[in-house]
Amino acid sequence: MTKISRSSTEVIEVDPHAPDVETIEVAAEVLRDDGIVAFPTETVYGLGARASSPVAVQKVFDAKGRPATNPLILHVADLDQARRLAATWPEAAQRLAEAFWPGPLTLVVRRSERVVDEVCAGLDTVAIRMPAHPVARALVEAVGDPLAAPSANRYTEVSPTTADHVLKGLSGRIDLVVDGGATEVGVESTLVSVVGEKPTVLRPGMIDRSQLSKVVELGGLGDEERVVDESEPRHSPGLSRRHYSPGVTLRLVESKEFIRLCEDEGQRGMVLVGGLGAPIDSDAAFVEMPPEPEEYARQLYSVLHRFDGDDVDEIIVEMPPEGQRWEAIRDRLRRAAD
Ligand code: TXA
Ligand code: MG
Repeated sequence: MTKISRSSTEVIEVDPHAPDVETIEVAAEVLRDDGIVAFPTETVYGLGARASSPVAVQKVFDAKGRPATNPLILHVADLDQARRLAATWPEAAQRLAEAFWPGPLTLVVRRSERVVDEVCAGLDTVAIRMPAHPVARALVEAVGDPLAAPSANRYTEVSPTTADHVLKGLSGRIDLVVDGGATEVGVESTLVSVVGEKPTVLRPGMIDRSQLSKVVELGGLGDEERVVDESEPRHSPGLSRRHYSPGVTLRLVESKEFIRLCEDEGQRGMVLVGGLGAPIDSDAAFVEMPPEPEEYARQLYSVLHRFDGDDVDEIIVEMPPEGQRWEAIRDRLRRAAD
């Protein structure tokens, strides 16, 4: 077990596929003592706190600088734990859980009395997810209590897909980072509310609408119409536009414009992100993205973090294709561009 100390935040490395018991126990002990710990999930790194501890949950809000009005996701080890957090467990929740858990899907259900108020930001619902990542699962099991865990980044900044991304935003503000390497999925889970008559997608993710539709009949609007202004009261605060933003300006352009900019050789301080597998001959700083959405999603936040420095003035991103498989990626890019 390697321990590296950076300011007051410790880092411990762990095998993401087979986390050893002692390392997990170190992290579980911090969590039991109301500490806060960043750990890998299959989507992005989460910043975990024991969900039944208002003190620990408050530390998460403080470390992130997240408004108390924005509720957290509870991570569970099994279906029983999930059901105990819910006042009712609709048929749709059961079907979706059976189809996609453990995995990158979060379900919003009516909350039971076990859920502490601080987690839900005053809503009568709670978001629950059973992660697939062996480290996340081992941690929740070892703590023996669900873990409240938002993405491990400062509020409105880009979510972390590596331990270094976590440290960039939160070093010195949290107790521990469990470093399990880069995450697989790369963007946050699909968020589905099963509170209303038909399940609705509150935040698109890599489990897309066509996959969900094979299991349940979806209702509600497309996510584009659901994006609301920060000042409005909202069903899911994560729908606010200023989310997932890098520190530099990000501009989204259609392919034709992108190619023209590449031919112009870009300008100083400009990074061009696109190409989608068709290499473009350009002298501008250019990042070629993979043509498949799964691989694109895996790399996206790393690219944004890499160019989030002061020598870059503008990141220009080629808009990926339309279609359900790209919906989550287009969604995050649009938010980052605002
Ligand atoms: O993949 C993920 O979901 C990651 C990993 C760490 O699990 N977590 C994550 O958490 O993205 P966070 O807090 O960054 O995003 C959770 C989103 C927020 O937009 C929040 O507003 C929404 O879920 N949310 C939480 N509870 C909700 C509720 N009861 N009703 C509606 N939206 C809710
Ligand atoms: Mg987040």
